[in-house]
Amino acid sequence: MPAVEIRPNVYWIGVNDRTTDLFEGLWPITQEGVSYNTYLINDEKKAVVDLVKGLKTDEFFDHIAEIVPVPEIDYVIINHMEPDHTGVLRTFRKIAPKATILGSAKTKNLLASFYGITENVRAVEDGEMLSLGQKTLQFFSTPLIHWPETMMTYDTSEHILFSCDAFGGYGALRGAIFDDECTDLNFYQKEALRYYVNIVANFSKAVLRAIEKLTNVPVEIIAPSHGLIWRKNPQLIVDLYKKWAEYAGGPAEPEITLIYGSMYGNTETMMNAVARGISRVGIPLEIFDVARTHVSYILPALWSRAGVMVGAPTYEGKMFPLMAQVLEMAALKRIANKKVAYFGSYGWSGGALKNLSAIVEPVKWELVDSFEFVGKPTDEELRKGEEFGARFAELIKAGS
Ligand SMILES: Cc1cc2nc3c(=O)[nH]c(=O)nc-3n(C[C@H](O)[C@H](O)[C@H](O)COP(=O)(O)O)c2cc1C
Ligand SMILES: [Fe+2]
Ligand SMILES: [Fe+2]
Repeated sequence: MPAVEIRPNVYWIGVNDRTTDLFEGLWPITQEGVSYNTYLINDEKKAVVDLVKGLKTDEFFDHIAEIVPVPEIDYVIINHMEPDHTGVLRTFRKIAPKATILGSAKTKNLLASFYGITENVRAVEDGEMLSLGQKTLQFFSTPLIHWPETMMTYDTSEHILFSCDAFGGYGALRGAIFDDECTDLNFYQKEALRYYVNIVANFSKAVLRAIEKLTNVPVEIIAPSHGLIWRKNPQLIVDLYKKWAEYAGGPAEPEITLIYGSMYGNTETMMNAVARGISRVGIPLEIFDVARTHVSYILPALWSRAGVMVGAPTYEGKMFPLMAQVLEMAALKRIANKKVAYFGSYGWSGGALKNLSAIVEPVKWELVDSFEFVGKPTDEELRKGEEFGARFAELIKAGS
C-alpha cells in the first residue's frame, strides 16, 4: 500500500506483515497478520513517529521518499522501544544521520543497550511541546503500556493521538486503514481483544491511568501502531480498551469458558454432558480443546468471562500437562478473580484437582465445585455431570 494522507501533511507510512507466524515469537498471527503503522509529519521540520520491524525495509523507506527524501527527516519519535517499532532504526540512522531521536528518558537507556545508539538522542519530558513549524507536537508519558519507557505523541493542531501499542490490535490492514473504510470491524475488535489480553492486559492499571490522564485532551483520530486508524469513532476503541482493562479488577461478563483436554475420550464424553447442563441455563458458553487451540485464542475468553469450567484428566499425579500450561499462562497474565469448577477422569489415585488448586491459588480463582470420576463415565455420572454444569451456570448467571 502506498503512503496515505490522513490529515493535511500527516501520512500513514506503515507496512503490513503477513509472513511472521508468531508475534513476539509467541502469539500466532499466521492467519491474521499484523500491521506496523508509522506516521510522517511533513512540516517545516519533518518527523517520523515510530518505525517498523526489521522487514520490508525498502517498502518503508520508499513510503517516506514518496513524500520527503529520507536524509531530510529531522526527528524520529520513538514512542516505544520494542523492536516491532524500532527494527530499522540502525538503518534509518545510516540513511538520515542528522535526524534526532526523541523518546522518554528510559528510551535513551534502552537505545544504548538494544542498538548501541547514544549520539543525537534527546529525552523528552512528560507534556513537552515540540514545534515543527506550523504544527506542534506534545508528548505524554504513559509508562508500562506495556514497557517502562512507553509514551504517546499528540498532534495538537489535527488532534491526532499516536498511541503506539495502546488501542492497537492484530490483523494486517486489508486495504482499508480507517475504521470508516473497514467492512469487518468485528474482526479488528476481536483481534484487538486478543492482542490486548496477550500483550497489554497485565498492565491494565497503566492503561486506565493513561486513559484518565488523556481525558481532557481532544482526540479526533486515534492512530495506533497496529491495526486500524480510528477517525470516525475514536471513542469506540478507547471504550473497548477501558472495558477490557476494567475486567482486571472488577467483574467480567456472566458467561462461561469451558476448557478441556482428554487423552482417551473419557473426560471429553463428560465435557459434552457438562456443556449440555450449562447450555440448559442459557448463558453464553465458549469451548476450547487445550490440545488443539493455541493459548493466545483461549486467553481472551478467560479474561472477559466470569466463569471457567475446567475439564481434564489426571496425568502422572498432576493435571493433564496441556491444561496446566494454559492455566499457568492465565496466571502469568494475571487473569484473576474467576469462579472455577473442575471435572475430570482419573485411573487410580487422581491428582489433577489438587494441582489445579495450586496453580490458580496465586490469582485467586475460587474453586466452587468439582466432579471427579474413575475411567469411563457411567450413565449415572453423565447425568450428574449435566447437573454439575447447570449448577455452575446458575451460579455464574446469578453473578454470585
Ligand atoms: C500417561 C498417563 C498418565 C496417567 N497418570 C495417572 C495418575 O498419575 N494418576 C491417576 O489416577 N490416573 C492416571 N492416568 C489415568 C488417566 O487419568 C485415566 O486413564 C483417565 O480416564 C483418562 O481420561 P481421558 O480419557 O479423558 O484422557 C494416567 C493415564 C495416562 C495415559
Ligand atoms: Fe510493544
Ligand atoms: Fe507493538
